[in-house]
Amino acid sequence: MKIHIASHPLITHKLTLLRDENTPSPTFRSLTEEIVSLLAYEAMRDIKTQEVSVKTPVAMAKGAQLTKPSPVVVPILRAGLGMLEGMSRLIPTAEIGFLGMVRDEKTLKATTYANRLPEDLKGRQCYILDPMLATGGSMSATISLLKQVPHHCIIATCLIASPEGVATITEDHPDVLLVCAALDRQLNDQGYIMPGLGDAGDRLFGTI
Ligand code: PRP
Ligand code: URA
Repeated sequence: MKIHIASHPLITHKLTLLRDENTPSPTFRSLTEEIVSLLAYEAMRDIKTQEVSVKTPVAMAKGAQLTKPSPVVVPILRAGLGMLEGMSRLIPTAEIGFLGMVRDEKTLKATTYANRLPEDLKGRQCYILDPMLATGGSMSATISLLKQVPHHCIIATCLIASPEGVATITEDHPDVLLVCAALDRQLNDQGYIMPGLGDAGDRLFGTI
């Protein structure tokens, strides 16, 4: 699996604020959006474009525009929702599909509770959003679901990944690109990323 860790100083600065346990939910949400907009540049490096020409007030200019069908952005509910605004601000024409996944706190196994993906995924570029790649179970299950429709390219965008999660995706989906802001040390006994940032969903939506 290809992994890109976007270790730009601005991203690391914002991620450090995000990790801080004293950062309140409203700030946590806006920092998440800002980081995702920065990560999106890396995630979309190979987005498909076609050459076009435009007439400036002075002369013709060669340029590029995104090809159709438009890319699909898939936030994994609930925490992935916190990344959606940052991504769709950059690419407002993208279609959005939703997958609800929750992992059992004891077994750490992920199950799907909602599936509202666009019907026609064939040939589309899919950008999955989930802040935390912990065991990798939620992301791997999401990718498997998307792959039920053949021939599209899949990019997973996370804030923080663990070595265990990277190993899972490498094993299950070696063809997928993972873009993240940091690769942390390890998981703890409860399956939380260390040092991580805690429970992303709770911190985004103020449920702690
Ligand atoms: C969190 C997180 C990921 C998942 C990562 O979601 O947002 O989806 O855990 O863990 P994994 O890599 O071990 O599968 P959670 O299940 O807590 O649901 P939430 O987004 O509703 O908070
Ligand atoms: N889910 C989270 O929100 N945080 C973790 O560290 C692991 C899974």
